[in-house]
Amino acid sequence: MKHIDIAEIFKNEKQYLGKTVTVCGWVRTSRESKNVAFIELNDGTSLKHIQIVADKAVLTLNKELALGASLMVNGTVVPTQNNTRVEINAAAVTLLGECPPEYPLQKKRHTMDFLRTIPHLRVRTNTFNAMLRVRSVLSAAINKYFCDNNYVYVHTPIITGSDCEGAGEVFRVSIHEWKTAFATEKDYYDADFFGQRAGLTVSGQLEGEVAAMGLGKIYTFGPTFRAEKSNTTRHAAEFWQIEPEVAFCELFDIIAIAEELIKYIISAVLKGCRTELEFFEAHFEADLVKKLTDVVGSSFEILEYEKAVEILQKSGKPFVFEPKWGEDLATEHERYITEEVFKKPVFVINYPKKIKSFYMKQNDDGMTVAATDLLVPGIGEIIGCSQREADYDKLLEAIKERGMNVEQYKHYLELRQFGSCPHSGFGLGLERILLYVTGLGNIRDVQLYPRTVGDLR
Ligand code: 4AD
Ligand code: MG
Repeated sequence: MKHIDIAEIFKNEKQYLGKTVTVCGWVRTSRESKNVAFIELNDGTSLKHIQIVADKAVLTLNKELALGASLMVNGTVVPTQNNTRVEINAAAVTLLGECPPEYPLQKKRHTMDFLRTIPHLRVRTNTFNAMLRVRSVLSAAINKYFCDNNYVYVHTPIITGSDCEGAGEVFRVSIHEWKTAFATEKDYYDADFFGQRAGLTVSGQLEGEVAAMGLGKIYTFGPTFRAEKSNTTRHAAEFWQIEPEVAFCELFDIIAIAEELIKYIISAVLKGCRTELEFFEAHFEADLVKKLTDVVGSSFEILEYEKAVEILQKSGKPFVFEPKWGEDLATEHERYITEEVFKKPVFVINYPKKIKSFYMKQNDDGMTVAATDLLVPGIGEIIGCSQREADYDKLLEAIKERGMNVEQYKHYLELRQFGSCPHSGFGLGLERILLYVTGLGNIRDVQLYPRTVGDLR
């Protein structure tokens, strides 16, 4: 259909003044006086609606004013009466799709809970329009950052035989019917599609390391899956991860890369999504733009895990989980450190080895690994990062210690036999950074179709 994007008109208002245009869109609001109707039309290309002013004689069916109806409008772009913006003086209005009054999105402000029950319609709200646009700009900036810095974008497999994080949260992939009964577990997997246990990847890292050992600098950016039953505002069963892997790179080098990436992508959103951020600031998080601007100008804190535990223990805060050396930091601890103590993003480094994954470089103290989590105010962890264990014997020992199947990690181990080198990488959760950038409070509201425990719409 020949028409132009409403966003184009707003981008070049002067150029369009006095021109005849055709736009399409959905009615967001409408009102009428005796002879004239006013329609706020939105086609999704911009958060702002364009006002259509139509002589009532132009509206033939009288269904053109219904909330949610889709229209094609032909008319002239003119200044509004107070000359602050432009509107369209309609010469013809065509009803493309009518919308009856049962339409669930009425004029009032709906709760996020309600909107979650209508994932197929909520994209038509300002909140989801703005969120998905920020998500898109963020994704483009991520690709641009890596592309401009000599990284190769690789696509790691979604179906894998290994559990990268070793946390046992892998969704099984199987073709077995629910009725099938087998004498042993081995028989069961032997008869399955791959002849072995298979699952959806929890992380592209292990294959990413393979690629980095030939290409030097790579990143993956795709969906990852975790059958984590934690029903929180930060966990989804399906989420997108950005995972760079860099050869000839130690812990502090990768920390610098992570910090640079975060600042780069936030700058891109500040530049490309001003209207959307102002919308989120008005409705979801006060001073959002200042928060983001400050982060770009700040330098992130680096804090030893041991020191973090000390700070928590001395805080006098009534935490639900008592902070103890050797235990993972709970979200309440992470948020205290980043929100109340440092008030900016914090890299916590050198975690105890027993609470972290097998692939992390073991430090000389024999107790800790060269790993870091990046914590940000309001969210907690947004990045999981480490230098990788490059020593064959130490890696083998870590695999055995955890009772993992050595045979399954044969190729991964071989990377440490054939030209092993110091290398590091991290995983940034796209939805987590999106929560941070938009001020939205629930991971279910930064995905088109959230997948969480017990909920698959
Ligand atoms: O800390 P994680 O588990 O690290 C890894 O998976 C590494 N293999 C990454 C790497 O080094 N290449 O996960 C990385 C990030 C977390 O910091 C968080 O932002 C996000 O992925 N994440 C989740 N986001 C939403 N829902 C979940 N269930 C998530 N689990 C992790
Ligand atoms: Mg983690």
